[in-house]
Amino acid sequence: MQVNFDFKGQHIFVFGGTTGINFGIAQAFARQGADVTVASRKPENVDAACTELAKFGGRVHGVCADVRDFDAVGWAFADAVDRFGPIDALVSGAAGNFLCEAKDMSSNGFKVVIDIDLIGTFHVLRQAYAHLRKPGASVINITAPQSFVPMRFQAHAGAAKAGVDQLTRILALEWGSEGIRINSISPGPIDGTEGFRRLMSRNPEERAAALAAVPVQRFGTLDDIANLALFLASPYASFVSGALIPCDGGGALESVKPALEAAGYAAVAEQQKA
Ligand code: COA
Ligand code: NAP
Repeated sequence: MQVNFDFKGQHIFVFGGTTGINFGIAQAFARQGADVTVASRKPENVDAACTELAKFGGRVHGVCADVRDFDAVGWAFADAVDRFGPIDALVSGAAGNFLCEAKDMSSNGFKVVIDIDLIGTFHVLRQAYAHLRKPGASVINITAPQSFVPMRFQAHAGAAKAGVDQLTRILALEWGSEGIRINSISPGPIDGTEGFRRLMSRNPEERAAALAAVPVQRFGTLDDIANLALFLASPYASFVSGALIPCDGGGALESVKPALEAAGYAAVAEQQKA
């Protein structure tokens, strides 16, 4: 199910927007009539995404750029703005991840995720700044629950995404007076995506336990995240800035529940009844 907004004539730029969650966001904006630019590293992903996006009938542009390359990110924005004008909404969602305990992680393994997720996000925001519509632009960073829920095997991604969320808050302070809003969306497990494939257990029992731990009792969909992005980019969200918004069916709340509560409260409640 998709919410209806009107983004006709607006320029929406989605960095890392050629696959998965971010592509779902790009599709939602294309469906609402926006001019959409997507950027990522691999030409085959950029071409495939543009072909799909063009089916919605609007203007579409694709650029190959690695977020680790500050100059390439700058060229990507200059090129897109030449075609479609200032950016009304920017989504920054390029990321890399793998499961690895800190004790087994090489320095380069830690660094590669910091380089893509955190420094790459800074490159995107820093290079976009000159091209954002002022006033009126909305910036959305795609983060993850591990930014505030400590998770084993996620030292690199947790540290990187926590940094991204702090960038969201700091730039909300710095850019707010120019009419730029910036927020983070923190998706829960979104079925059918690369992140889900990399982080979710393949063992059916463990997968069922992960599902049971989501209070609304389902995994997320691409539309769940896209609908929130549409809202954040719309005038209905004109007073929302500097926020970290989980879109996870309450899953992160469940993860931070103290173990003591999980283990003991049901028994104590029974005793108190007696
Ligand atoms: N476990 C432990 N270390 C790993 C690893 C794994 N599964 N995968 C990569 N690394 C380490 C490598 O060993 C290397 O360290 P080293 O030089 O000390 O050996 C370092 O990470 C860099 O790996 P490399 O493959 O050269 O990086 P890359 O720039 O080609 O790719 C990744 C970056 C590793 C993040 C890659 O998985 C990627 O491009 N991911 C994008 C898609 C994705 O992750 N989507 C999900 C988003 S949530
Ligand atoms: P994905 O399909 O792998 O999306 C990542 C995108 O970023 C791809 O388009 C990829 O395209 C691009 N990218 C990767 N490295 C890049 C780089 N160095 N420079 C430029 N672009 C790069 O993964 P996803 O699972 O949908 O995740 C999307 C976002 O949601 C990420 O920020 C992730 O952390 C977040 N998230 C996902 C989940 C989940 O359940 N999937 C949960 C929480 C948070 P190229 O390979 O062509 O570069």
